[in-house]
Amino acid sequence: MSEFIIAIHVLVFLSHDMKSRSSEELSENLCTNPVRIRKVMAKCKKSGLVITKAGVNGGYTLARQGRDINLKEIYEAVGLQIIESKWHSGDIESDCLIASGMTSYIDELFSNLNKVKLYCEEDIMKKYAVVYASKTGNTKKVAEALVKAAPDQFDMFDAADKPDLSAYELVAFGYGVDKGGPYAQCRDYMATISNKAVVLFQTLGAEGMGEHAMACAANGGMCLGKGNHILGFYSCQGAIDPKLIEAMRKMPAGPHSATPENEKRWAAAASHPDAQDLEKATAFMQHMISVYENYFKKMMAR
Ligand SMILES: Cc1cc2nc3c(=O)[nH]c(=O)nc-3n(C[C@H](O)[C@H](O)[C@H](O)COP(=O)(O)O)c2cc1C
Repeated sequence: MSEFIIAIHVLVFLSHDMKSRSSEELSENLCTNPVRIRKVMAKCKKSGLVITKAGVNGGYTLARQGRDINLKEIYEAVGLQIIESKWHSGDIESDCLIASGMTSYIDELFSNLNKVKLYCEEDIMKKYAVVYASKTGNTKKVAEALVKAAPDQFDMFDAADKPDLSAYELVAFGYGVDKGGPYAQCRDYMATISNKAVVLFQTLGAEGMGEHAMACAANGGMCLGKGNHILGFYSCQGAIDPKLIEAMRKMPAGPHSATPENEKRWAAAASHPDAQDLEKATAFMQHMISVYENYFKKMMAR
């Protein structure tokens, strides 16, 4: 039974941030020695619950989300007998309701016990994810404002970490605009987002809802994978990196050079996203959640 407890503890620990952990790190958390951890983890690896990576940053990583693992798999992995019994008390022919009904009651009880998950989805699972690609922090600020719409329901990720979004019902994806579309570094990842309800958001140097912003938004939508439903879009101005402004001031005359109009636009962007942009972002996300929960889910269920 102690191996079962070790396996549960390790798998819950690995699932909380899905990072790779060495047997030494795990043993510290469990207050036991690394040899015991390695013995149990070898069994979990054989059963496909964890994967291992060699090297300096190596260790054990969960093979899939903790919410998708049930206790039956864990006790099978460590070689325990699952909860079952071939013997039944009572007699199904009996006139007594208890004696005749106990067989099916116990069968159902055991079957339910064997379906118990590593942890309870209702308690742990967040429904919505906000993922941002931000170099100078503007889009990250908007991402944080979106989370405020329902802090208990959101997980927030940096797109650079390429989070696995398979367990989330709704994904809000945001990026800083670079050359008329999402940052090049996040485009491959965006293409992996598919078959989701998606909310897009962006920050850019130009006017938040102007023509250029709409064209950038369309480009953003095109970077996503297949089968998504885009529920809505939020766009606001974001301060331009002063280093880029300095570089543009040195450019020969052209669309990006330091004309009075461009200087005015750069100066206007400098204070964004401001408190009002962020309040609007929170209200926008509240609206998106209600569209999703009250209409979209019902439409999709039909
Ligand atoms: C290299 C570079 C390219 C940019 N290209 C555009 C652009 O095409 N259109 C635009 O409106 N803003 C552009 N901007 C401004 C950024 O989109 C804006 O500053 C954004 O808020 C940055 O987001 P972040 O702070 O989340 O990285 C560019 C900025 C940089 C540094």
